[in-house]
Amino acid sequence: MTRRGSLLPVFLSHHFSLLLLIVAGVLIASPATGIRLPDRKSEPPPAPSYSLKTAVFALGSFWRSEAVFGCLNGVVRTTVGYSGGSKPNPEYRSLGDHAESVQIEYDPKVISYRQLLEVFWSSHDSRQVFGQGPDVGNQYRSIIFTNGTSESRLASISKEREQAKSKSSIVTTQIQPLETFYPAEPEHQKFELKRRPFLQHLIGNLPEEELQRSTLAARMNSYAAELCPPRIQRQIDAKINDIIRKGWPVLRDI
Ligand SMILES: *[C@@H]1O[C@H](CO)[C@@H](O)[C@H](O)[C@H]1NC(C)=O
Repeated sequence: MTRRGSLLPVFLSHHFSLLLLIVAGVLIASPATGIRLPDRKSEPPPAPSYSLKTAVFALGSFWRSEAVFGCLNGVVRTTVGYSGGSKPNPEYRSLGDHAESVQIEYDPKVISYRQLLEVFWSSHDSRQVFGQGPDVGNQYRSIIFTNGTSESRLASISKEREQAKSKSSIVTTQIQPLETFYPAEPEHQKFELKRRPFLQHLIGNLPEEELQRSTLAARMNSYAAELCPPRIQRQIDAKINDIIRKGWPVLRDI
Protein backbone atom coordinates (compact mmCIF):
# COMPACT_ATOMS: atom_id res chain seq x y z
CA MET A 1 0.00 0.00 0.00
CA THR A 2 2.96 2.37 -0.27
CA ARG A 3 2.27 5.05 -2.84
CA ARG A 4 5.60 6.83 -2.99
CA GLY A 5 4.72 8.70 -6.15
CA SER A 6 1.67 10.35 -4.69
CA LEU A 7 3.05 10.99 -1.20
CA LEU A 8 4.60 14.39 -1.90
CA PRO A 9 1.57 16.05 -3.48
CA VAL A 10 -0.56 14.72 -0.63
CA PHE A 11 1.93 16.05 1.90
CA LEU A 12 1.80 19.52 0.39
CA SER A 13 -1.93 19.64 0.06
CA HIS A 14 -4.54 20.62 2.58
CA HIS A 15 -5.03 16.89 3.24
CA PHE A 16 -1.94 16.99 5.42
CA SER A 17 -3.90 16.43 8.63
CA LEU A 18 -5.60 13.41 7.09
CA LEU A 19 -2.18 11.99 6.26
CA LEU A 20 -1.09 12.47 9.85
CA LEU A 21 -4.12 10.54 10.99
CA ILE A 22 -3.31 7.70 8.62
CA VAL A 23 0.33 7.58 9.77
CA ALA A 24 -0.77 7.57 13.40
CA GLY A 25 -3.20 4.75 12.65
CA VAL A 26 -0.48 2.67 11.01
CA LEU A 27 1.85 3.20 13.97
CA ILE A 28 -0.79 2.20 16.50
CA ALA A 29 -1.68 -0.90 14.51
CA SER A 30 1.95 -1.95 14.14
CA PRO A 31 2.92 -4.80 16.45
CA ALA A 32 6.41 -3.30 16.69
CA THR A 33 5.15 -0.44 18.85
CA GLY A 34 4.57 -2.70 21.83
CA ILE A 35 1.80 -4.11 23.91
CA ARG A 36 -1.51 -4.83 22.31
CA LEU A 37 -4.44 -6.36 24.08
CA PRO A 38 -5.82 -9.58 22.68
CA ASP A 39 -9.00 -8.94 20.77
CA ARG A 40 -11.52 -11.42 19.53
CA LYS A 41 -11.72 -10.57 15.88
CA SER A 42 -12.47 -13.78 14.07
CA GLU A 43 -10.27 -14.98 11.26
CA PRO A 44 -11.65 -14.96 7.73
CA PRO A 45 -12.54 -18.43 6.47
CA PRO A 46 -9.79 -19.68 4.12
CA ALA A 47 -12.25 -20.94 1.54
CA PRO A 48 -16.00 -20.69 1.13
CA SER A 49 -17.51 -23.58 3.02
CA TYR A 50 -19.46 -24.85 0.00
CA SER A 51 -16.19 -25.86 -1.61
CA LEU A 52 -14.94 -27.79 1.41
CA LYS A 53 -15.10 -31.55 1.83
CA THR A 54 -15.34 -33.67 4.93
CA ALA A 55 -13.45 -36.81 5.93
CA VAL A 56 -13.78 -38.91 9.07
CA PHE A 57 -11.20 -41.31 10.49
CA ALA A 58 -10.72 -43.31 13.68
CA LEU A 59 -7.09 -44.03 14.66
CA GLY A 60 -6.88 -44.29 18.43
CA SER A 61 -7.36 -41.56 21.01
CA PHE A 62 -9.19 -38.68 19.35
CA TRP A 63 -7.13 -36.13 21.28
CA ARG A 64 -4.13 -37.25 19.28
CA SER A 65 -6.06 -37.89 16.03
CA GLU A 66 -7.21 -34.29 15.93
CA ALA A 67 -3.62 -33.12 16.34
CA VAL A 68 -2.41 -35.47 13.59
CA PHE A 69 -4.50 -33.70 10.94
CA GLY A 70 -4.79 -30.16 12.29
CA CYS A 71 -1.50 -28.81 10.94
CA LEU A 72 -1.85 -30.00 7.35
CA ASN A 73 -2.04 -27.41 4.63
CA GLY A 74 -5.60 -27.40 3.30
CA VAL A 75 -7.18 -28.65 6.52
CA VAL A 76 -9.59 -25.93 7.58
CA ARG A 77 -11.29 -27.39 10.65
CA THR A 78 -11.07 -30.42 12.90
CA THR A 79 -13.65 -31.80 15.32
CA VAL A 80 -13.43 -34.85 17.57
CA GLY A 81 -16.39 -37.13 18.08
CA TYR A 82 -17.88 -40.58 18.05
CA SER A 83 -18.76 -42.68 15.05
CA GLY A 84 -19.01 -46.23 13.77
CA GLY A 85 -21.38 -47.60 16.38
CA SER A 86 -25.10 -47.79 16.94
CA LYS A 87 -25.57 -46.15 20.36
CA PRO A 88 -27.57 -42.93 19.99
CA ASN A 89 -26.04 -39.79 21.53
CA PRO A 90 -22.80 -41.30 22.81
CA GLU A 91 -20.77 -39.55 25.51
CA TYR A 92 -17.14 -39.88 26.53
CA ARG A 93 -17.90 -42.03 29.59
CA SER A 94 -20.49 -44.11 27.76
CA LEU A 95 -19.71 -44.21 24.08
CA GLY A 96 -21.08 -47.70 23.59
CA ASP A 97 -19.86 -49.35 20.40
CA HIS A 98 -18.57 -46.15 18.79
CA ALA A 99 -14.96 -45.37 17.99
CA GLU A 100 -13.19 -42.14 18.92
CA SER A 101 -13.02 -40.28 15.62
CA VAL A 102 -11.90 -37.07 14.02
CA GLN A 103 -13.83 -35.15 11.41
CA ILE A 104 -11.70 -33.12 9.03
CA GLU A 105 -12.99 -30.30 6.86
CA TYR A 106 -10.57 -29.69 4.05
CA ASP A 107 -10.15 -27.78 0.84
CA PRO A 108 -9.80 -30.42 -1.90
CA LYS A 109 -7.95 -27.91 -4.08
CA VAL A 110 -5.12 -27.88 -1.54
CA ILE A 111 -5.11 -31.40 -0.10
CA SER A 112 -6.65 -34.53 -1.58
CA TYR A 113 -8.51 -37.40 0.05
CA ARG A 114 -5.66 -39.62 -1.10
CA GLN A 115 -3.16 -37.49 0.82
CA LEU A 116 -5.35 -37.61 3.92
CA LEU A 117 -5.32 -41.40 3.61
CA GLU A 118 -1.52 -41.39 3.51
CA VAL A 119 -1.42 -39.36 6.70
CA PHE A 120 -3.95 -41.74 8.26
CA TRP A 121 -1.79 -44.79 7.54
CA SER A 122 1.48 -43.21 8.58
CA SER A 123 0.12 -41.84 11.85
CA HIS A 124 -0.91 -44.98 13.67
CA ASP A 125 -0.31 -48.72 13.87
CA SER A 126 -3.10 -50.24 11.83
CA ARG A 127 -1.97 -53.74 12.80
CA GLN A 128 -2.42 -53.34 16.52
CA VAL A 129 -5.36 -55.37 17.74
CA PHE A 130 -7.90 -53.93 20.20
CA GLY A 131 -6.22 -50.62 20.87
CA GLN A 132 -3.63 -48.08 19.87
CA GLY A 133 -0.37 -47.60 21.72
CA PRO A 134 -1.09 -47.61 25.45
CA ASP A 135 -4.84 -47.14 24.87
CA VAL A 136 -6.60 -50.47 25.04
CA GLY A 137 -10.18 -51.01 23.97
CA ASN A 138 -12.69 -51.14 21.17
CA GLN A 139 -13.10 -47.36 21.12
CA TYR A 140 -9.54 -47.05 19.79
CA ARG A 141 -10.03 -49.25 16.73
CA SER A 142 -8.89 -48.12 13.30
CA ILE A 143 -11.59 -47.11 10.79
CA ILE A 144 -11.82 -45.21 7.53
CA PHE A 145 -15.33 -43.79 7.19
CA THR A 146 -16.24 -43.26 3.56
CA ASN A 147 -18.83 -41.19 1.80
CA GLY A 148 -19.56 -42.51 -1.69
CA THR A 149 -17.99 -45.06 -4.00
CA SER A 150 -15.01 -42.95 -4.98
CA GLU A 151 -13.82 -42.60 -1.39
CA SER A 152 -14.44 -46.25 -0.56
CA ARG A 153 -12.48 -47.30 -3.66
CA LEU A 154 -9.53 -45.08 -2.69
CA ALA A 155 -9.71 -46.39 0.87
CA SER A 156 -9.67 -50.04 -0.29
CA ILE A 157 -6.73 -49.47 -2.62
CA SER A 158 -4.77 -47.76 0.16
CA LYS A 159 -5.54 -50.59 2.57
CA GLU A 160 -4.38 -53.23 0.07
CA ARG A 161 -1.17 -51.28 -0.41
CA GLU A 162 -0.68 -51.10 3.34
CA GLN A 163 -1.27 -54.84 3.75
CA ALA A 164 1.16 -55.58 0.91
CA LYS A 165 3.98 -53.91 2.86
CA SER A 166 4.07 -56.92 5.16
CA LYS A 167 2.05 -60.12 5.23
CA SER A 168 3.23 -61.21 8.67
CA SER A 169 0.31 -59.51 10.42
CA ILE A 170 -3.15 -58.36 9.44
CA VAL A 171 -4.15 -54.73 8.89
CA THR A 172 -7.12 -54.43 11.24
CA THR A 173 -8.49 -51.18 9.76
CA GLN A 174 -12.15 -51.33 8.81
CA ILE A 175 -13.63 -49.40 5.93
CA GLN A 176 -17.25 -48.48 6.43
CA PRO A 177 -19.75 -45.98 5.07
CA LEU A 178 -20.08 -42.95 7.32
CA GLU A 179 -23.36 -42.86 9.16
CA THR A 180 -23.64 -40.38 12.02
CA PHE A 181 -20.71 -38.44 13.39
CA TYR A 182 -21.52 -37.25 16.92
CA PRO A 183 -19.28 -34.32 17.96
CA ALA A 184 -17.74 -34.92 21.39
CA GLU A 185 -18.12 -32.71 24.45
CA PRO A 186 -16.34 -29.31 24.30
CA GLU A 187 -13.62 -30.32 26.78
CA HIS A 188 -12.34 -32.89 24.27
CA GLN A 189 -12.11 -30.44 21.37
CA LYS A 190 -8.58 -29.05 20.80
CA PHE A 191 -7.57 -30.97 23.89
CA GLU A 192 -3.83 -30.60 23.35
CA LEU A 193 -4.15 -26.84 22.97
CA LYS A 194 -6.28 -26.60 26.12
CA ARG A 195 -3.50 -28.28 28.07
CA ARG A 196 -1.34 -25.26 27.22
CA PRO A 197 -3.13 -22.11 28.51
CA PHE A 198 -0.17 -20.04 27.38
CA LEU A 199 -0.78 -21.01 23.75
CA GLN A 200 -4.49 -20.39 24.10
CA HIS A 201 -3.72 -16.96 25.44
CA LEU A 202 -1.37 -16.36 22.54
CA ILE A 203 -4.15 -16.80 19.97
CA GLY A 204 -6.48 -14.49 21.88
CA ASN A 205 -8.36 -16.80 24.27
CA LEU A 206 -11.00 -17.61 21.69
CA PRO A 207 -14.43 -18.44 23.05
CA GLU A 208 -15.22 -22.17 22.85
CA GLU A 209 -17.39 -22.00 19.76
CA GLU A 210 -14.78 -20.07 17.83
CA LEU A 211 -11.99 -22.27 19.10
CA GLN A 212 -13.77 -25.28 17.62
CA ARG A 213 -14.12 -23.69 14.20
CA SER A 214 -10.76 -21.94 14.03
CA THR A 215 -8.09 -23.06 11.56
CA LEU A 216 -5.42 -21.40 13.65
CA ALA A 217 -6.60 -23.29 16.74
CA ALA A 218 -6.47 -26.58 14.80
CA ARG A 219 -2.88 -25.81 13.84
CA MET A 220 -1.88 -24.72 17.31
CA ASN A 221 -3.48 -27.87 18.70
CA SER A 222 -1.09 -29.87 16.51
CA TYR A 223 1.79 -27.65 17.50
CA ALA A 224 1.00 -28.24 21.18
CA ALA A 225 1.19 -32.00 20.57
CA GLU A 226 4.38 -31.53 18.52
CA LEU A 227 2.67 -33.12 15.55
CA CYS A 228 3.24 -30.38 12.99
CA PRO A 229 5.99 -31.17 10.47
CA PRO A 230 9.38 -30.24 12.06
CA ARG A 231 9.81 -27.26 9.74
CA ILE A 232 6.44 -25.83 10.78
CA GLN A 233 7.13 -26.55 14.46
CA ARG A 234 10.30 -24.47 14.18
CA GLN A 235 8.50 -21.69 12.32
CA ILE A 236 5.88 -21.44 15.05
CA ASP A 237 8.59 -21.54 17.74
CA ALA A 238 10.24 -18.57 16.06
CA LYS A 239 6.97 -16.63 15.82
CA ILE A 240 6.21 -17.25 19.47
CA ASN A 241 9.69 -16.12 20.53
CA ASP A 242 9.25 -13.01 18.45
CA ILE A 243 5.93 -12.24 20.10
CA ILE A 244 7.37 -12.74 23.57
CA ARG A 245 10.23 -10.38 22.77
CA LYS A 246 7.92 -7.69 21.44
CA GLY A 247 5.44 -7.94 24.28
CA TRP A 248 2.26 -9.88 23.67
CA PRO A 249 0.48 -9.05 20.50
CA VAL A 250 -1.73 -11.87 19.32
CA LEU A 251 -0.67 -14.70 17.07
CA ARG A 252 -3.00 -14.52 14.05
CA ASP A 253 -1.54 -16.82 11.49
CA ILE A 254 1.27 -19.29 11.07
C1 LIG B 1 -21.09 -36.85 1.17
O1 LIG B 1 -20.70 -36.31 -0.06
C2 LIG B 1 -21.65 -35.46 -0.66
C3 LIG B 1 -21.10 -34.97 -1.99
O2 LIG B 1 -20.35 -35.94 -2.64
C4 LIG B 1 -21.96 -34.29 0.25
O3 LIG B 1 -22.97 -33.50 -0.31
C5 LIG B 1 -22.38 -34.79 1.62
O4 LIG B 1 -22.54 -33.70 2.48
C6 LIG B 1 -21.35 -35.74 2.17
N1 LIG B 1 -21.80 -36.30 3.43
C7 LIG B 1 -21.08 -36.20 4.54
C8 LIG B 1 -21.70 -36.80 5.74
O5 LIG B 1 -20.00 -35.66 4.58
